Amino acid sequence: MAQTRDNIRRWNEEYDWTEGGDEWSVAWGGPDAQWFHTLYPRIRKFVPAGTILEIAPGFGRWTQYLKDLCSSLVVVDLAQVCIDACKTRFAGSPHIRYHVTDGKSLAMVEDGSIDFAFSFDSLVHVEMDVLEAYLEQLAVKLSPDGVGFFHHSNVGVYAALIASGTMTNHHWRGESCTAEKFRRFAERVGLSCIGQELANWGQDQYLTDCMSLFTRTGSRWARPHQVVENLRFMLEAQMARSLAPLYARTEAADSNGTLRMEAQRSAPGPESRQSREQAVIEFQSRKLGEMEAQHNALRADLAQLREHFQVVERDREARLKAIEQQGRKLGEIEGQRNALRAELEQLGERFRAANEDREARLKVIEQQGWKLGEIESQRDALSAERSTLQGRLENLEKKYVAAGEALARQLEEIAALRSQLDRLNSSLPVKAMRRLGLIG
Ligand SMILES: C[S@@+](CC[C@H](N)C(=O)[O-])C[C@H]1O[C@@H](n2cnc3c(N)ncnc32)[C@H](O)[C@@H]1O
Repeated sequence: MAQTRDNIRRWNEEYDWTEGGDEWSVAWGGPDAQWFHTLYPRIRKFVPAGTILEIAPGFGRWTQYLKDLCSSLVVVDLAQVCIDACKTRFAGSPHIRYHVTDGKSLAMVEDGSIDFAFSFDSLVHVEMDVLEAYLEQLAVKLSPDGVGFFHHSNVGVYAALIASGTMTNHHWRGESCTAEKFRRFAERVGLSCIGQELANWGQDQYLTDCMSLFTRTGSRWARPHQVVENLRFMLEAQMARSLAPLYARTEAADSNGTLRMEAQRSAPGPESRQSREQAVIEFQSRKLGEMEAQHNALRADLAQLREHFQVVERDREARLKAIEQQGRKLGEIEGQRNALRAELEQLGERFRAANEDREARLKVIEQQGWKLGEIESQRDALSAERSTLQGRLENLEKKYVAAGEALARQLEEIAALRSQLDRLNSSLPVKAMRRLGLIG
């Protein structure tokens, strides 16, 4: 991860700035070629602008062009050495203001003052938190029609390849950044991301970098978001480099500002044969030098292509292996899926059978329920009948007991009467008794 403290250490303390950053333009044939071939065509619609903000200028590789495209330029870098170098280099340009930042803050910039915000070949080394901090502030710092052009990392989309070792983060790109995250965050803070060019950097076939254009929502530049995937970004560099020497000015012309072909002007006239031959020899040796340079450039291109081819080949092999592994895994998973399917079918069948059985049992239970109801009502009727009969029985018993008691009493009376009669019989003569009809 490229943290802010790593950036400070790298650019403020460790980096050898002897060449002022021009060494990063070698692939283009120099900063001039890179600016006019690659950068200026991309931003030319937005410049000249009133106030330009350049974030992370380094030693001023792009500041030298931006300063001539505005009435006021603000440069902000986290490395003190870079700000000092810019101050010295552009001492003759009083419209430039310089600030050292903590790596996220734009507090020194006036709200609504920036017509064009620019950063190239710097924010590719920061993580998403830094991009978010700058975007959030630019939503306020940009003027109503202000536009931003940020070059940042898109390497986050390859996180899995980097983690597996299939891809190397060669150019120290911020691993948490993607074009998509950048767009979404810009929109969240009230900016409109109007265009994103995804580009390869170096010889890689990966779209590791992104150039994002953004503006304030509702500005005159606002339009639907567009994305272009540019895998030929490095061809631009090759083209620029091959043309750069052809259109370059001589050193002498550069130093006095006049286009002069020193070789021609100082070439001896045709007066003497010797001087003509001398001119031819010089011309031929110049030509030879150029051809040698072209030859070397071609060899370098060839070596780069070979290297690129090897990278592609290695990547292809890694992908083939991954595809093979995935194929095997897929086979295994399919087998497991089929087994699960069969198990599921069996379970389904068992479930259907259990369901049918359950329904049959439910029917039986229902029938038994009805039967039970009937039996219960019969039982209730019988028990009511039994209580009636029992009542009647108890009444009869009572009556029987009473009748028994009455009978006993009558028997007692009969017995008493009989004994009275026996006594009378024994005391009355039989004749009188017969008269009285007491005996026959
Ligand atoms: C590779 S140099 C490029 C400089 C310049 N843009 C160029 O292309 O020559 C990276 C620059 O980014 C600056 N930088 C890195 N992180 C930064 C941050 N968070 N805020 C401001 N500047 C930062 C460094 O101090 C350094 O000057």
